[in-house]
Amino acid sequence: MNIPVHLEERSYEIIIEAGARRKLSQLIAQLLPEAQACCIVTSETLVNEQWFDIDSGINQYTITVSDGEESKSIEVLGQVLEQLAEAKLSRRDLVVSVGGGAITDLAGFAAATYLRGIAVIHIPTTLLAQVDAAIGGKVGINLVAGKNLAGAFHQPRAVLCDVEVTATLAPEEIRSGLGEVAKCWLLEGKSASEIVATSPQDLLELAVNLKARIVSDDEREGGQRALLNYGHTLAHAIEKLCLAQSTPMRHGEAVAIGLRFAVRLALALERVDSAVVAETDAVVAGFDLDFAIPREFRTTDLVQAMSHDKKAHHDLTFVLPGPTGFGVVAGIDREIVTRVLEEFRNHE
Ligand SMILES: NC(=O)c1ccc[n+]([C@@H]2O[C@H](COP(=O)([O-])OP(=O)(O)OC[C@H]3O[C@@H](n4cnc5c(N)ncnc54)[C@H](O)[C@@H]3O)[C@@H](O)[C@H]2O)c1
Repeated sequence: MNIPVHLEERSYEIIIEAGARRKLSQLIAQLLPEAQACCIVTSETLVNEQWFDIDSGINQYTITVSDGEESKSIEVLGQVLEQLAEAKLSRRDLVVSVGGGAITDLAGFAAATYLRGIAVIHIPTTLLAQVDAAIGGKVGINLVAGKNLAGAFHQPRAVLCDVEVTATLAPEEIRSGLGEVAKCWLLEGKSASEIVATSPQDLLELAVNLKARIVSDDEREGGQRALLNYGHTLAHAIEKLCLAQSTPMRHGEAVAIGLRFAVRLALALERVDSAVVAETDAVVAGFDLDFAIPREFRTTDLVQAMSHDKKAHHDLTFVLPGPTGFGVVAGIDREIVTRVLEEFRNHE
């Protein structure tokens, strides 16, 4: 299936199919006929996977970085940029990312800045990168001061979502992506009872479709795109404390907790009734994402971290369901948030 992202001259397609990675050379010939070379940015582990048969059809250089978040640093970005220059990539050439969200973000940012911006095609290899990181053009790295604090908007020329590639993912990495899928499921108003009858390919398409549609309407997060942060205010706070206390938790697990908390906050603010809370719990359970906030985290620290969320312009800001659909609700009373969070934790 091909899903379009409509952004005028920056429009592109997300191709979802088994073996999509093999379309790379054909796509480069079609979209970038003057390209003579490309640099594939991937990881030291992924390059040895049996599916790693990436063929661009033009001169091809491979740059490998370490797996995971540690590569999203200013140092590694510098190394990648130097290697793009050593390969003598010109403005007509391109970067191809082959990896999870960390590599997508890093390679995309390198492409955004090298020669003031060259083309990038993403081949996302985790579920999270397929449904989220590779779509929408947000690229970036972490600073010592925090995650994703340096970056750019740089739309890819195409995204190749290959379901053969994600077959080698560890279960916790699948869960990490499923948190975002559950979020999309709820934003689309789908019921828990429909989950079992939906194939993995259909789940992928639902999530990609939603993100592609929202990005097409709101490229730079002025409005609708903020709805994609449903469940993320608490999730980001949990992830911040996990990092500080070396507690392992994957993004999707934190998002799943954030979704169940957000709907309870909406109930406390009389935006929804208890049936919506029960349905949200059933959806989260339907994706096998029943996780709890680690006991050692203090509620006051979580509330403090939520009020420092990058997206919180007015102290405590949440995406919440309501009578007329989902919306961004700013300036929520700290005492209400603390009380609802305490109750939520006590019932876990
Ligand atoms: N730009 C955006 O819009 C956006 C959106 C969401 C997340 N992100 C970013 O994405 C990152 C998280 O991405 P992630 O969850 O994909 O984690 P990740 O990129 O760190 O990958 C997780 C692990 O899975 C391994 N892996 C990747 N593909 C594999 C495969 N096919 N088989 C086996 N192992 C594989 C990786 O080597 C790594 O060890 C974060 O840095 C986050 O900030 C960005």
